[in-house]
Amino acid sequence: MRLAGKTVVLCVTGGIAAYKAADLTSKLRHAGAAVRVLMTESATQFIAPMTFESLSSNRVVVDTFDRNFAWEVEHVSLAKAADVFVIAPATANVIAKAAHGIADDMVTTTLLATKAPVVIAPAMNTGMYDNPVTQQNLETLRARGFHIVDPAAGRLACGDTGRGKLADTADLIWGVEKAVTPQDLRDRRVLVTAGPTQEALDPVRFLSNHSSGKMGYAVAARAALRGAEVTLVSGPAALGTPQGVRRVDVVSAREMYEAVVSRADAQDIIVKAAAVGDYRPAQTADEKMKKGEGDLSVELTRNPDILAELGRKKRPGQLLCGFAMETQNLLDNASDKLRRKNCDLLVANSLRDKGAGFQTDTNLATLLFADGRRETPPLMPKEELADIILDRLLMLSQSAR
Ligand code: CTP
Repeated sequence: MRLAGKTVVLCVTGGIAAYKAADLTSKLRHAGAAVRVLMTESATQFIAPMTFESLSSNRVVVDTFDRNFAWEVEHVSLAKAADVFVIAPATANVIAKAAHGIADDMVTTTLLATKAPVVIAPAMNTGMYDNPVTQQNLETLRARGFHIVDPAAGRLACGDTGRGKLADTADLIWGVEKAVTPQDLRDRRVLVTAGPTQEALDPVRFLSNHSSGKMGYAVAARAALRGAEVTLVSGPAALGTPQGVRRVDVVSAREMYEAVVSRADAQDIIVKAAAVGDYRPAQTADEKMKKGEGDLSVELTRNPDILAELGRKKRPGQLLCGFAMETQNLLDNASDKLRRKNCDLLVANSLRDKGAGFQTDTNLATLLFADGRRETPPLMPKEELADIILDRLLMLSQSAR
């Protein structure tokens, strides 16, 4: 679970999008987080505290200005308990107060006391959002390290159309996850390839392979969460684009070659997880091929080797990670590939190992380094292996600096 063991303090402030914070509470719990909800009094006009108490299984703290209620102590204890502090929806008012250190209610006093990372999700009327004073306040918060999850554009409750809709729950969860993830790949440009390629025989048929794209998508997703600027060049794969990732869709090996080689120079790290077709039909028929009585032979011609080309053009400081999928002589073939293609790291997995391979959610791989070192982490989810691959590449880039 992505947020297992984390305590999220969720502050709900008074706007019509407050009802969406109920879904956020539920999804945060599904992701493994403990959720403590704080509401401003005006938020309770839009949605009842009971909703959040039921969803979070915790008492909701509301700003009542009730002097019998020990809020001074409570706000400090909540501030300390938070692994991450989230204000969603955040009104223009709470954003202005946060930017200027005003602490005049439960939410703002707790916010001022916390040392946890803070995620702010603005939601308000377009005019209020676009107002330079709100934008300036958000800029102030961003510069201070707050994570702002930008609102979406669309039709707003007030009837206006424009920016100001609370971001989707999935984007909010991603913002929370990013806030608790060390941004050790910040400012790095990472290009990942993933999925199979398809080589057309005619308008209805193609040659391809069983790659699902899961490993490459996991690397792209984790790199983006760790702060990298990620481009994912993907062959046809039935997977959603990971958040924070720029995706470029390609079909054939030659299209992938163009998409990757044209962007390669700008990258700090290139991870070539795609299962690229080594051959394509020498001829692609313009019309559907009709069957005849006898057998059919198809002549195949070589595709360009993208990784080998990247290896030839590698600029100083750039890191290249290749993949090898083998059915026999895994490590010999892999170390040969590492050398031939001038990689810094090669991730080798055998189709014969249980839990490893194309369609699985787990992988078992040996990491081969250019200096001859080898490492075989245990069988693990592809996301975890993705993190290990990125850790090792980061280590190599630091030792090269
Ligand atoms: N690769 C590539 N372009 C190709 C073929 C492969 O960039 N035309 C990359 C893959 O993305 C992967 C690595 O090369 O990172 C290994 O691919 P593989 O086809 O297994 O290696 P080959 O050198 O082609 O070896 P062989 O087919 O003999 O196993």
